[in-house]
Amino acid sequence: MDIPWWRDAVVYEIYVRSFADASGDGVGDLAGVREHLPYLRRLGVDAIWLTPFYPSPMADGGYDVADYRDVDPLFGSLTDFDALVADAHELGLRVLVDIVPNHSSSEHPWFQAALRGEGRDRYIFRDTINNWQSTFSGPAWTQVADGQYYLHLFAPEQPDFNWRNPEVHQEFLDILRFWLDRGVDGFRIDVAMGLYKAEGLPDVGDQSFKAVSPVWGQPEVHNVYRDWRRLLDGYPGERMAVGEVWTDSPEDLALYVRPDELQQSFNFAWLQAPWSPTAFKKVIDDTLGTVPFATWVLSNHDVVRHRTRYETADPGTGLARARAALLTMLALPGSAYLYQGEELGLPEVTDLPAEARQDPVFFQSEGKLPGRDGCRVPIPWTVDTPSYGFSPGGVEPWLPQPATFAELSVEKQEGDADSTLEFYRRALACHRDLVREIPYTLEWQASPEGALFFTRGPVICAINCGTHPVRLPEHDTVLLASGPLKGSLLPPDTAVWLSS
Ligand code: NOJ
Repeated sequence: MDIPWWRDAVVYEIYVRSFADASGDGVGDLAGVREHLPYLRRLGVDAIWLTPFYPSPMADGGYDVADYRDVDPLFGSLTDFDALVADAHELGLRVLVDIVPNHSSSEHPWFQAALRGEGRDRYIFRDTINNWQSTFSGPAWTQVADGQYYLHLFAPEQPDFNWRNPEVHQEFLDILRFWLDRGVDGFRIDVAMGLYKAEGLPDVGDQSFKAVSPVWGQPEVHNVYRDWRRLLDGYPGERMAVGEVWTDSPEDLALYVRPDELQQSFNFAWLQAPWSPTAFKKVIDDTLGTVPFATWVLSNHDVVRHRTRYETADPGTGLARARAALLTMLALPGSAYLYQGEELGLPEVTDLPAEARQDPVFFQSEGKLPGRDGCRVPIPWTVDTPSYGFSPGGVEPWLPQPATFAELSVEKQEGDADSTLEFYRRALACHRDLVREIPYTLEWQASPEGALFFTRGPVICAINCGTHPVRLPEHDTVLLASGPLKGSLLPPDTAVWLSS
């Protein structure tokens, strides 16, 4: 069987607003992404995933889409998009775009018509409401002028579609065709488990992302992905889709990646695992035991950056662990999703002032939750202020960057063998040369306490999550280590690839 390109691919998430600003308005854009494609090629990724760049009032950073078939002037134009795809393909990079089928913007023409009383059945309007809460805090219902309420599982500016209406289904097939015809290689599906709500909209006890609840993971959603898969398979070039599926059970995750559904689902269990060999081993076993094609992800634009999640009272631990986790994840069968800036070792920016914050989570929770701005701070390309090369000239970026970003900038790290950027480049090169070619299996090896050892063909991966150095497994040569080794010992918070 030919191996599909995405099976062992490294995909790099570009949060477009924060990657690179070519137009000089302080907000990242498609032309900025295009300018930096050679950087991504050199980093060694196989594909990019672009977060939403569609016309949007930006109530949720673009995840409130007002027109699914265009580009917001903030981010450029369809011409810029086409040029970006052409250049990416020229460089051998695939392009995935974000599709947001659970909800639209309240500015979408369909919702505007619904407010006038036309076509309300495309959304979820009711005379009386249930106890559902918005994921961003507060009730999931907002009342309109004539007294009815509409459902929004996220911000009030994000009304949920009614997927029981076939018109919605047809519309999204058409939107997918629009982007496939423009040459995209696939889609990242926002809130993929949310499209259908249980008939009757019963009250819920616990609304967290469970495998199945009246709010999430209704079985009807799978027919949508069967239709989407048929559509994708009808195009040449292995077009694919990866679902954003939050669930508590690997078995439920596996339902989304059955042979006639999505090719991949994000494996958030890996991201949520604590720094522990038993937790890591369990996630790896659960994943490989249930999901035909695994994915691994440590960070994205919705969670605290993993360097900061792994931080302890001992300075330096977060970065050491982040590098070790990356090396381990790249040794696993499956594909890896990276989030922009992790290759620079960027931490979460935790001290953004209230007046700078933009995330609706912060506002809807009345400041009780910090929201996700801290992982969305624009990328530092150079050591120069005010924007570290993010925007041209003296333009201030849309979120303030901390002074520590100078030291973490691409310019500062490039050519420094000890830097995280150069480590990522080496790790991705090793991944491409070694791991991708070997069978899709993993074998556990006896490991000392606190550590995990496994082999994949001729490669041995060892990670030490404990507090004491452990002896390296028997090997020929050291291929790559996430930090300095001590002779034949693997220090704590370090991972290594060895050849046998
Ligand atoms: C998941 C996206 O990743 C997140 O940023 C967004 O706020 C919600 N879905 C709602 O679209």
